[in-house]
Amino acid sequence: MMPRETGLRDSNDDTLWLVVPAAGKGTRMRAERPKQYLDLDGQPVIVHTLAKLHSAWPQARLILCLDEKDVWFEERFVPFDHWQRINGGDERADSVLNALMALQGRAHADDWVLVHDVARPCVHVDDLHTLHASVIGDEVGGLLATPAADTMKRQDRSHRVGHTESREGLWHALTPQAFRYGLLYEALHTARQSGQTITDEASAVEAFGLAPKLVPGRRDNLKITHPEDLALARWIITAQRDNT
Ligand code: C5P
Repeated sequence: MMPRETGLRDSNDDTLWLVVPAAGKGTRMRAERPKQYLDLDGQPVIVHTLAKLHSAWPQARLILCLDEKDVWFEERFVPFDHWQRINGGDERADSVLNALMALQGRAHADDWVLVHDVARPCVHVDDLHTLHASVIGDEVGGLLATPAADTMKRQDRSHRVGHTESREGLWHALTPQAFRYGLLYEALHTARQSGQTITDEASAVEAFGLAPKLVPGRRDNLKITHPEDLALARWIITAQRDNT
C-alpha cells in the first residue's frame, strides 16, 4: 500500500512530530484482532491513545505506522489535521525507522520527535506535557519511566531464581520517548546496520554513548500486552474520565 498523506507539511520552528508505532500483531493478547483495535470502554484502544496525544498537542504532526495488511484501521480514528500513514516493519524499531525515513527532507535535524506505543492508551496528558517540558532544553532527549517497585529476580538456565538483582536505580522504560530527529534517525539506522536488538528508542541512543534523561511518569501508563491488561486499562480510563 502506498503511504497515505493528509496535509503533512515541512517543519517550522515549533514543529512536533509524533510517531505512533501501531503495526504490531499483538499475538500475546490471543485476541481475534490486533490489540489496538480491541474495545476499551466503547472505543478501540487506538482511539484513546490518539485522543490523549491530540489533547496534549493538537497541532502536532502524526506519523502512524500500520501493518500493510491492516483491515481494521479507519481514518475516523485519527483526530489530527496533519497526519500520514506508513507501513510498519518486522519489528517495532523497523516501524519507527520507516516513519523517520518518511520524514526525510521534511523534518529538520533538531525537530523533536515523540514516539508513543499505540498500546499505551492510559498515558496521562499531564505526563505528556511534563516529558516535553523536561527534554526541550536537553542535549540528548529522554523518556517517561517509573522506578522498579518489585524485587527483581534473574532466572537461571532451569528457570529457577539464579540471583536477586538490586532494584536500586532500576527503572521501567515507558513511552513516549522524545529525541531530536537527526539523532534518533542516526541511532536507529546505525542499530539496524549493526544488527542490534532494539526494543525502544532510548536503547538505540544509548548505543551511541549518550544518556537519555529519565523523566518520572505515572505507573498507570501501562502497555496492553496480555489479556488481563485490558481490564486494568478499562479501569484506569474510567477513573481518569471520572476525575476530569
Ligand atoms: O508488541 P509490543 O507491545 O512490544 O509493541 C509495542 C508497540 O510497537 C505497539 O504499539 C505495536 O503496535 C508496535 N509495533 C509496530 N511494529 C511492529 C511491532 C510492534 O509498530 N513490527
